[in-house]
Amino acid sequence: MRLDGKSAIVTGASQGIGAAIAEAYAKAGAEVLITARSQEKLDAVASGIRAAGGRAETFAGDLKQPGTAAEVVDAAVTAFGKLDILAHSAGATKYGDFFDLTDADFEDGFALKYYGAVRMTRAAWPHLMKTKGCILNVIGVGARVSEKNFAIGGSVNSALTNFTKAMADRGVQDGVRVNAIHPGPVLTPRIRQRVEFIMREEGIDEAAALAKMEANWRVMRLGKPEDIANLAVFAVSEAGNLLQGSVIDMDGGATRAL
Ligand SMILES: NC(=O)c1ccc[n+]([C@@H]2O[C@H](COP(=O)([O-])OP(=O)(O)OC[C@H]3O[C@@H](n4cnc5c(N)ncnc54)[C@H](OP(=O)(O)O)[C@@H]3O)[C@@H](O)[C@H]2O)c1
Repeated sequence: MRLDGKSAIVTGASQGIGAAIAEAYAKAGAEVLITARSQEKLDAVASGIRAAGGRAETFAGDLKQPGTAAEVVDAAVTAFGKLDILAHSAGATKYGDFFDLTDADFEDGFALKYYGAVRMTRAAWPHLMKTKGCILNVIGVGARVSEKNFAIGGSVNSALTNFTKAMADRGVQDGVRVNAIHPGPVLTPRIRQRVEFIMREEGIDEAAALAKMEANWRVMRLGKPEDIANLAVFAVSEAGNLLQGSVIDMDGGATRAL
């Protein structure tokens, strides 16, 4: 499960799951280029990686802009001379009642997570063909299980899962491995806001709010970003070499569908 000598890009790496994946890749020996919009947050993650003896470069940019993906890949190849791994974790979609959501909200949801993946894949693919590299998309259990207030996120996740499988099929021919992880609820800054909301609304402490969320989700426990990062290392390592087009739920039992 070592990644020594590998070069990786991680999107959505200024916080949450993406940051944990970048830290885990660096700990496993890879050099990483981390990208998101906030330079300040990227610098904080990169400093942590460097302090632990790893190599990290940053690229601040908005992945909703069509040209950004190619710039990110160029920056990584310029810095490292090659690219072995692309982990795409950038994503944010609007949650809420369908009749409050506009076309623009749907387009915005697709712009980052889905088209971000499409454009990153297009730009990275020739480099990954050269190194027999890997793509790992961080998607979400909403791809498999629908929810009335998650119409955008669920649609984006299902579309990206289909795209993952399509590129895995192409990857058989081109020597590129393409897989996905579907996280369930993971305690990242976004989910922490929901915990704090429950604490405030119900006047309960953090432990009680977490227990309530676990009960609502019917999970063993809420995930930590590091849980997803551990699987993300395995998926792109030699140990995970037979994974191709695999879409793995890591959700504490949340998904009961086949
Ligand atoms: N946490 C969960 O419970 C959970 C469950 C299922 C699926 N997921 C999926 O897992 C992925 C990561 O989730 P997370 O909880 O770690 O999210 P998060 O904490 O909200 O982090 C999202 C990341 O995406 C970046 N980002 C947002 N807008 C961007 C843009 N326009 N261009 C470039 N980067 C952008 C953010 O950085 P900046 O703001 O600095 O740009 C941040 O680094 C997402 O796709 C999410 O849908 C999460």
